[in-house]
Amino acid sequence: PSKESQDVLQAFEWLTKLYHHLLRHSKDGKEGYHYLKERGFSDETIDTFQLGFSPKSKTFIMQFLEKKGFHPQSMVKAGVLTTTSDNEVVDRFQGRIIYPIKNHLGKPIAYGGRTISDQSPKYLNSPETELFQKGRLLYNFDLARSHIRKEGKVVLFEGYMDVISAYQAGIKNSVATLGTSITETQAKLLRRYVESVVICYDSDQAGILASYKAAKLLRKTGCNVSVAKMEDGMDPDDYIKKYGPEKFTKDVIAVSDTYMAFIMRYLKKDYNLNLEGDRIQYVENVLDEIALLDRPVEREHFLKELANEFELSVQTLSQEIRSRRAMTG
Ligand code: GTP
Ligand code: MN
Ligand code: MN
Ligand code: MN
Ligand code: MN
Repeated sequence: PSKESQDVLQAFEWLTKLYHHLLRHSKDGKEGYHYLKERGFSDETIDTFQLGFSPKSKTFIMQFLEKKGFHPQSMVKAGVLTTTSDNEVVDRFQGRIIYPIKNHLGKPIAYGGRTISDQSPKYLNSPETELFQKGRLLYNFDLARSHIRKEGKVVLFEGYMDVISAYQAGIKNSVATLGTSITETQAKLLRRYVESVVICYDSDQAGILASYKAAKLLRKTGCNVSVAKMEDGMDPDDYIKKYGPEKFTKDVIAVSDTYMAFIMRYLKKDYNLNLEGDRIQYVENVLDEIALLDRPVEREHFLKELANEFELSVQTLSQEIRSRRAMTG
């Protein structure tokens, strides 16, 4: 890294400790601490993830950084200070819970900041910098890596809170894309460590669409994908808090849908299968997906399932698969 990046790394190291200390041990951080306690996080979890709090002050962090000899302008660029519309330099994360975002070596390189009131945006994240490119990194990969290897499986979440909740519940092979869209770089990074990926995004419209996109990308990258499902509207953290870790493991993670089962269920909801036109389109779509499966036994399995469901002949469908595969080589 450049000299500038090294300074930024140093600043982030100091700041992460400061934010965490403020949350755990200061009057200014009390409301942040209580917020996390209220949501069921233990002191041990708060310490493991070095969660912190940025005081409701315009300049508390700036003054600290100045005392340590960091230039305000370079800290604006690093995204921990910000310039207001009146050209005033102030703390960026005022009054927010701080989630340190670490690189794969465990060094903090960015922050997520969550409001504890109803401020918008709910999460304010660090801007992209030379050190931090959101699409190249997975949240918690540093702590999860050895568990991913050991279990031969990774659980992929949407958000900080889901990962932290899962980790506290003993599911330590957990990482998150920051937000819903997984990039090719993130998919490849995962594939280097593990073959099996369980997608466990929020059970809302955005989360389900994102699961579909992630499932397709991860499969294309060579992963063995499954997709977890929960009651409508819940996210993994809600589920764990409501039903407990055992039920989450047993009734969500362990029984996640296989790739094709998920795809078929997903595609179905866009069609009215009582209409002939919709039925044909649905079958065409599923055939496209079956044709992409690598293993002949898998292709045959889903082909038979499809043939049965729609009273079509296996021969006709096989023919369709052959011509699709011939086209794509
Ligand atoms: P809680 O509401 O605290 O439980 O968080 P959540 O993780 O359930 O949030 P949500 O499902 O809304 O979002 C998932 C992830 O997307 C978050 O962890 C953030 O990384 C990201 N995200 C959510 N809202 C925003 C936002 O307003 N701005 C940005 N930049 N990112 C967001
Ligand atoms: Mn501590
Ligand atoms: Mn969400
Ligand atoms: Mn959520
Ligand atoms: Mn949530």
